[in-house]
Amino acid sequence: MTEYGNTLDQAELGKGGPRVGVQGLGCMGMSEFYGDTDEAAARETLEAALAAGVTLFDTADVYGRGRNEEFLAPFVAAHRDEITLATKFAIERTDDPAFRGIRNDRAYVRAAVEGSLRRLGVDVIDLYYMHRRDPAVPLAESVGAMAELVREGKVRHLGLSEVTGAELREAHAVHPIAALQSEWSLFSRDVERSAVGAAAELGVAFVPYSPLGRGFLTGAFADASADLSESDFRRHQPRFTGDNAKTNAALLAPVREIARELGASPAQIALAWVQQRAAVHGLAVVPIPGTRRAERLRENIGATRITLAPAQLALLEPIAAQVAGDRYPDMTFTSAAREA
Ligand SMILES: NC(=O)c1ccc[n+]([C@@H]2O[C@H](COP(=O)([O-])OP(=O)(O)OC[C@H]3O[C@@H](n4cnc5c(N)ncnc54)[C@H](OP(=O)(O)O)[C@@H]3O)[C@@H](O)[C@H]2O)c1
Repeated sequence: MTEYGNTLDQAELGKGGPRVGVQGLGCMGMSEFYGDTDEAAARETLEAALAAGVTLFDTADVYGRGRNEEFLAPFVAAHRDEITLATKFAIERTDDPAFRGIRNDRAYVRAAVEGSLRRLGVDVIDLYYMHRRDPAVPLAESVGAMAELVREGKVRHLGLSEVTGAELREAHAVHPIAALQSEWSLFSRDVERSAVGAAAELGVAFVPYSPLGRGFLTGAFADASADLSESDFRRHQPRFTGDNAKTNAALLAPVREIARELGASPAQIALAWVQQRAAVHGLAVVPIPGTRRAERLRENIGATRITLAPAQLALLEPIAAQVAGDRYPDMTFTSAAREA
């Protein structure tokens, strides 16, 4: 691990916000969604990340219904002052695995933070995101309740996930927002319609989630529906299913070609692309690829040292418009659904 040292550059999460390594680590898959997990390997990945200069660790109360936060607690306790700990609230689950509710009201925010603090074993959360927006609750109420948590010392900085540019502006006027976390990758570019520009203008950092297209952009799936285990939730994602999966696998040809040219992996090309795309907008960006394996973590970090030439960027440009299938089976809860 030492050969990687602490080599990552740093970026500021919002004006005056914490400085973090320019790539973070998404921890969701360590507890749920992407098939079986190996706890020892996941713990090794967390340590490898920190050793390589990753400091932003991303979880949410909904991942494993609290289990992901509990899983992270010993790592957090061992490294509390070295890391920036991000978690989220707003998605409600029940014993019905298909159920998802969205809660943004003040009472819910106040109860949710207590649960996350307890499971994570901390007295303050560095970055607290609203995971999804319920348009029926005014941002003055939800972000206002989050701002109370900052004043009370339970939370240091605020973030939002899956909001439009207009919603980001409105929220930022209630309380400064440090980071916007939304899906952004070679396959998912709807955020470029309004959210990216608003974040750049306001000085809000962008934290692209699923920057590897939930693994698709790594080239791992020739036939996704056959390659995924029964417990893997991607079996029900439109882009991984049936003919869509085949269409989308074919779209990776230029990614593979550029990877060959540069002696890199497709995953590294996908990560380098999002980093460079944000730079075009003058936007501070901290992608949070998710992995449970230390060697992949180190591979992903390597992407920060790759620069794509204009001709390579041009080859990648048309991909997103050709992707078959939405990024969720139900797009209702995404920012894209609330954009004209
Ligand atoms: N705000 C939101 O609504 C939201 C939604 C989804 C995710 N997130 C956050 O964003 C993080 C990242 O997103 P994600 O995990 O959905 O998708 P992702 O980062 O696009 O892809 C993760 C998948 O790629 C695989 N992978 C990672 N690096 C690889 C490499 N170098 N080579 C081959 N395969 C590789 C992982 O498998 P292994 O683990 O087996 O390596 C995993 O299956 C999550 O962990 C979560 O913290 C937020």
